[in-house]
Amino acid sequence: MIAGKMLHRLVKRVSVRVPSSTANLGPGFDAFSMALEEPHLELVVERVEGGEGVVVDVYGPYRHRVPTDPHRNAAAKVLLKLAEKSGGTQGLRVVIDASIPVAKGLGSSGAEAAGAVVAGERILEMVLNEEERIRIAASAEPGSHADNVIASLLGGFNIIDNSPAGLTYLNIKPPDYIGLVILVPVVEKKSTDEARKILTSPPTLTEYSQALSRSSLISAALALGRMDLLLKLIPFDPFIEKVRANAGLYGPGYRWEHLLEEKKKLLSEYGVALCISGSGPSRLLIYDVRRGVEKIERAVEYLSERIERLAGGLEKVIYTRPTTQGAKIIEEH
Ligand code: HSE
Repeated sequence: MIAGKMLHRLVKRVSVRVPSSTANLGPGFDAFSMALEEPHLELVVERVEGGEGVVVDVYGPYRHRVPTDPHRNAAAKVLLKLAEKSGGTQGLRVVIDASIPVAKGLGSSGAEAAGAVVAGERILEMVLNEEERIRIAASAEPGSHADNVIASLLGGFNIIDNSPAGLTYLNIKPPDYIGLVILVPVVEKKSTDEARKILTSPPTLTEYSQALSRSSLISAALALGRMDLLLKLIPFDPFIEKVRANAGLYGPGYRWEHLLEEKKKLLSEYGVALCISGSGPSRLLIYDVRRGVEKIERAVEYLSERIERLAGGLEKVIYTRPTTQGAKIIEEH
């Protein structure tokens, strides 16, 4: 203390841990998302004395897939926006440990954007509310879709309405007994943007009505812990997955009929729900951990063989769970 005043110490470096996420959960296109315990990424934002703009450094297993151009990198786009909003000219450096598979439907860019908002707010000494954090992070995403960034910021299961009129969302703690397995195929989509641009024709009235009824039931089932309904309905997205599958996004030569056959078999024989994670191509298996491991192991074996044979090969299998922990500062000085 000097003459009754606190010395103000600037934070120079902030490290954040951010969960990956899965979006859509079947029929909930752009409306549902869930944060995943694994994979996760870590991101550091630091001040660059005398510098300006944002410099991006990337390391980790997926570094070659993450752009370092600050106008294309999700974290840098967020930091540039925050810097503009704060009115300052502070130079920043962001270092990203790219540990979430990129372009696989696991929200890697959303996680970067979420981490950048949390770290950037701290380092630039801003005070944002939750909705501002979401909006700024979502602005770095194609089509400003907010599902992945909300999950990475808040954790848990999220229901989102992000319309021009406003943002409405609910954050719900998922039941403890949800188990998840992600099967990451070798095939890479060019970008989420591309996977959205192919959605040009509208759904039929029946498809619209089914998406509405199924996603409404899924929301209520999640809130009530009704695993039976989740497993029954999540696999049956009536529209988006069909269009994307038939455009070849989930594997060369792999089509909706293949996916539908797998969904039906996994549910009837193993009690496991299959959907595409976000815009794909990763497959998400959802199961009830109270039922033991035997059926999920057989389900993974079956789907791995199908992806190897019909969808261009399997890169990795990740056993995970939902997490209620969103982006979190783990170190600062
Ligand atoms: N809801 C988005 C989509 C998620 O399906 O395009 C992208 O990860």
